[in-house]
Amino acid sequence: MWWENAVVYQVYPRSFQDSDGDGVGDLRGIAERLDHLAWLGVDALWLSPFYPSPMHDFGYDVSDYKGVDPVFGTLDDFDALVAAARERGLRVLLDLVPCHTSIEHPWFSEHPDWYIWADEPNNWLSAFGGSAWSKRNGRYYLHSFYPEQPDLDWRNPDVIAAMQDALEFWIDRGAAGYRIDAIDRLLKDPGLRDDPPATEAFGLPLSAKEEKLALTHSRNAPDTPEALRRIREAVDGALLVGEVYLPSAKWQPYLEHLDAAFAFELLHASWDADALRRAIEATTRRPGAAWVLSNHDFGRLVTRFGAENARSAAMMLLTLPGPAFLYQGDEIGQGDGPGGQCEFDRAGRDRYRHPMQWDASPAGGFTTGEPWLPAVDAERTNVEAQREDPRSMLSLVRDLLTLRRLLGEGIELLDAAPGVLAYRRGDHSIAINTTAEERPAPLDGELVLETEPGALRGRALAPHTAAVAMGLHLPPMG
Ligand code: GLC
Repeated sequence: MWWENAVVYQVYPRSFQDSDGDGVGDLRGIAERLDHLAWLGVDALWLSPFYPSPMHDFGYDVSDYKGVDPVFGTLDDFDALVAAARERGLRVLLDLVPCHTSIEHPWFSEHPDWYIWADEPNNWLSAFGGSAWSKRNGRYYLHSFYPEQPDLDWRNPDVIAAMQDALEFWIDRGAAGYRIDAIDRLLKDPGLRDDPPATEAFGLPLSAKEEKLALTHSRNAPDTPEALRRIREAVDGALLVGEVYLPSAKWQPYLEHLDAAFAFELLHASWDADALRRAIEATTRRPGAAWVLSNHDFGRLVTRFGAENARSAAMMLLTLPGPAFLYQGDEIGQGDGPGGQCEFDRAGRDRYRHPMQWDASPAGGFTTGEPWLPAVDAERTNVEAQREDPRSMLSLVRDLLTLRRLLGEGIELLDAAPGVLAYRRGDHSIAINTTAEERPAPLDGELVLETEPGALRGRALAPHTAAVAMGLHLPPMG
């Protein structure tokens, strides 16, 4: 399978490259920048939604599943992008948003029975806070996210047929698969019973209100695999990666029909060797993990783990077994925006979505116009400068993409000093010092790659560094 060890680069179309000077990224802009992705050595790109949308959730509120929003371009631009990607050996994955449409999708007024209604709200919570129910014409409709995103009823055969049609549409135009949005919310309790009080921890971070409830009825219904089967049936052979916001122990029903699920336990682990090890152990107990440490919802490596750890985080992400997803800007160690301004996204995620920084100019080469969000630190951190510098984060990421093709199957977690995460992949061993002190590291054989020159000092790693070595496994000394 082409994707089994693939690196998929996440493009947030709004913020990648603007081609027409309106300050918003677009499909032509993405096509113009494909050489960067080919040079970097990724296998595929995943495009966050570019479908027509009133943009209450920046495209995750779709008002037409078979079109391109004018701000992003046209269907012809999409076809040209896929063709240009193909020429460079890159596959294109799209974002399928099946759980809800935009409230402005014609379906909502034309086919109200395609949605979920109640006479009175139950206690289900929206992911963005507050009740998951809003009133319309005297009744309540369900919205697991913003009120502008009404949930579809996946037990209605017409909904399934319409969604299958959309799925096929893009595969026929050359898409290689889908990242499927919020898939654990696809099916809910048909009786709309209240979520009971929580008796155990959910296993992933939740809001304070959500934590009090066992989220057993508002999501993850037992007949989910049947709906996933219908998705798979429409696009047999395509890669399907689920955004399953559940601990990996609950993935099994999803992996009956999807190829992989995002490993949220690792994404949420703190930068601490024990926590990282526990998350990797739990997740690799079964196949199906798609690794991800950053995206448009949670922010970038530099901000999440600290600038001093960003290179080590990239090394970990790109040396684990299985597909890895790299968010745009992380290859240069671009940081998140200042935050707290919350101009566009009510859930406060603007800061994760500032434009990609291509060069040192004020708008970072992203646009010739006024960018919809300013560049964060283009003068200091940009692709152009880092391409020339063999010590840059960009050069490290490129080297990691080459190296990962040589790593052996599977993973063996190694015993290591406190604060050091270490594992073996065939002949290669990888060690990451998560602490601010020098620590011994179980790296055998010859040094292959280090996060910075001089990271490996004899058999110890400098503070906040990581390295890969290759050679025979030596028994521990003493
Ligand atoms: C997913 C997306 C997020 C969006 C939500 C609702 O979690 O990643 O950006 O807001 O689904 O569609």
